[in-house]
Amino acid sequence: MATLPRNRMGSQQYDENKLGFGDIFTDNMLTIEYSSTDGGWQSPKIVKVQNLSLHPAGMILHYGQQVFEGLKAFSGAKESDILLFRPDMNIARFNRSCQRLCIPSLDPKIFMDQMSELLRKDRDWIPRTPGTSLYIRPTVIATDAHLGVRPSRTYLFFIILSPVGAYYPEGFEPVRIMVTEKYARAAAGGVGEAKTGANYAASLLAAEEAHAEGFTQVLWLNAVNRLSIEEVGTMNIFFRIDDEIITPKLGGTILPGVTRDSVIQLCKAKNMRVSERVISIDELVSSAKSGKLQEVFGSGTAAVISPVSHFRYLGHDYMVGDGKTGPIAKELFDEITGIQLATRPDPFGWVVNVG
Ligand code: COI
Repeated sequence: MATLPRNRMGSQQYDENKLGFGDIFTDNMLTIEYSSTDGGWQSPKIVKVQNLSLHPAGMILHYGQQVFEGLKAFSGAKESDILLFRPDMNIARFNRSCQRLCIPSLDPKIFMDQMSELLRKDRDWIPRTPGTSLYIRPTVIATDAHLGVRPSRTYLFFIILSPVGAYYPEGFEPVRIMVTEKYARAAAGGVGEAKTGANYAASLLAAEEAHAEGFTQVLWLNAVNRLSIEEVGTMNIFFRIDDEIITPKLGGTILPGVTRDSVIQLCKAKNMRVSERVISIDELVSSAKSGKLQEVFGSGTAAVISPVSHFRYLGHDYMVGDGKTGPIAKELFDEITGIQLATRPDPFGWVVNVG
């Protein structure tokens, strides 16, 4: 397998085997401006990656009117392949998030066509080392220079690309998560199911406190009474208890993850017992105590499948199964990454080749 640095003129050099997450960017970016008084979305442009010029009163800087997405491009067997995993899901979620944040939606075909154009332009940046990919970050921000609280009338949509390795320093090794009682991520009627920066800003303090105690991520409980489980910092969460695969049901406060949906469909296709339902923290704790908790794993675009070895709740540490990566997490990781790289059959037709 080719190791780098590859010689990309004018670009940062890096070793594909040592890629982390989100520090390296490709040469080009896509931009589309929007003006409500000038015909809506303007012509797309592909330009060199550059700093944005924003008035200090730019509304994104004050009121956080913003939406983003995260998806990945993979190299395939042919040099020309550029493989995307369920991009239609990300584009649809982007527009749902925009609706919640009062941001004009973008024509899904323009989104897809322009994203593909950018990927073809920066195709040499798609890494080939196992466990790596080209992370795609579409984002839209409010750009009016205005200090009153209202939706902006101008926006900037852009897509940047970043060659990445594993999201967590642990890679596919199990992570430890801490249940927070003190903070909540999202309440019903809020923006919890939208992919907007505010949700991540709200998570930082809890995550920092968890890191200080040696945990990788926070497991969030519901905002009202902290009884039921919602999601992990940057992932949806799954439990295997007594051979039932359980994930909290969507209800407005949880991000509807593309990988979450893929896990559910794959488990159903394998005739596993899968439930999207309320799962309380008490049920999780008692399953750990009784030995019925077999596996816990997170799912997300960045993290793919991330096994969990331990969780802490109210000062007590609980081990999941034998503390090692469980067989279902391993199987799902292999299956999803195999489909993404086209090394395994794609029975659901999830992969789109835009090369
Ligand atoms: C993703 O999984 O793509 C995410 O958006 C999580 C994160 C890096 C914010």
